[in-house]
Amino acid sequence: MGYGEYFWPFELDKFLFSMHNARMSHAQYAQSPGVCFVRAYAKINLTLDVSGRRADGYHELATVMQTVDLYDTICLAESEDEGVHIRCAWPELSNAENLAVRAAQLVLRRLQIRRGVLLELHKGIPIAAGLGGGSSDAAAVLLAMQRWWHLPLSPDDLLEMAASLGSDVPFFLTGGLALCEGRGERVTPLASHWPASMRWLVLVKPPISISTAAVFQNLPVGDYSDGSHSRAVCAALETSHEPYPQDLHNALERSVLEQYPAVARARSDLLAAGAPLVRLSGSGPTLFAPCSELMQAVQIHRAMQGRGYLVYLSRAIYPPVGDICQF
Ligand code: C5P
Repeated sequence: MGYGEYFWPFELDKFLFSMHNARMSHAQYAQSPGVCFVRAYAKINLTLDVSGRRADGYHELATVMQTVDLYDTICLAESEDEGVHIRCAWPELSNAENLAVRAAQLVLRRLQIRRGVLLELHKGIPIAAGLGGGSSDAAAVLLAMQRWWHLPLSPDDLLEMAASLGSDVPFFLTGGLALCEGRGERVTPLASHWPASMRWLVLVKPPISISTAAVFQNLPVGDYSDGSHSRAVCAALETSHEPYPQDLHNALERSVLEQYPAVARARSDLLAAGAPLVRLSGSGPTLFAPCSELMQAVQIHRAMQGRGYLVYLSRAIYPPVGDICQF
């Protein structure tokens, strides 16, 4: 079910939106379900072309992203006061900097809603891993609040809010397979063809965290590319062909492997375990090894366990948007 189905049917200006909401909030308060659960899925980058640095400090990208079946679970409940609160087993995520908290605050502020939210965040996606966990949590909170409280937010409103939270957040509003351009916020969904050679994905996260900002900042101009890898992969997928391995190119990979020996070691271990191909997801440190056969993936998965890595046997999915459940 697409979030478009919850699009407010009338063209109202901001004033009318907030007037409507002020009237609506009291009536809906009684009707709102007690809690709302939402799943936030991870992604991998099949390609990541960086074509240059922009005047605003960001980099111009073309990246093909795909949702995978690793997920965080967020429970939203109404809080006693008008603030946004978060509970999470990770102390470093239990604060107002968390993108999920910022997403909830953004919704309350934008619609001038005088209610509060308690977020319980159960992490299934490793943090600072290159799998988009924080961005996905933010998108999931936007979608969940809209659905839970029947909020008058159009798809364009959601896109704008998502892009203001982070470059990857708009992708997670729909997920699946998409080409993301600009900062990453211009999302073009691609036909749902997933190559047989990538039926199973072994994800391996070395025990380090990498700052995306630092990776982009230290990226040599020599690693820039013109977007041709992403275009070639899009063309292959749109015509149901296997992409060429050399087009599964991540412009950040060379410098990450050079600067972070733990990632280079994980890559060697994956290749030694029989992985036919290994690529970095986003700015890392997570690597993914696509396999066509389950038994090959299981063998690599087993071989990588007990070596200090987080290892997952995953697959590409088209998530039921938001995957939201209310009680
Ligand atoms: O947009 P987001 O906050 O997720 O980006 C994190 C950091 O990654 C940015 O502060 C920026 O340094 C870098 N970045 C970039 N170009 C992009 C996306 C991210 O330089 N297109």
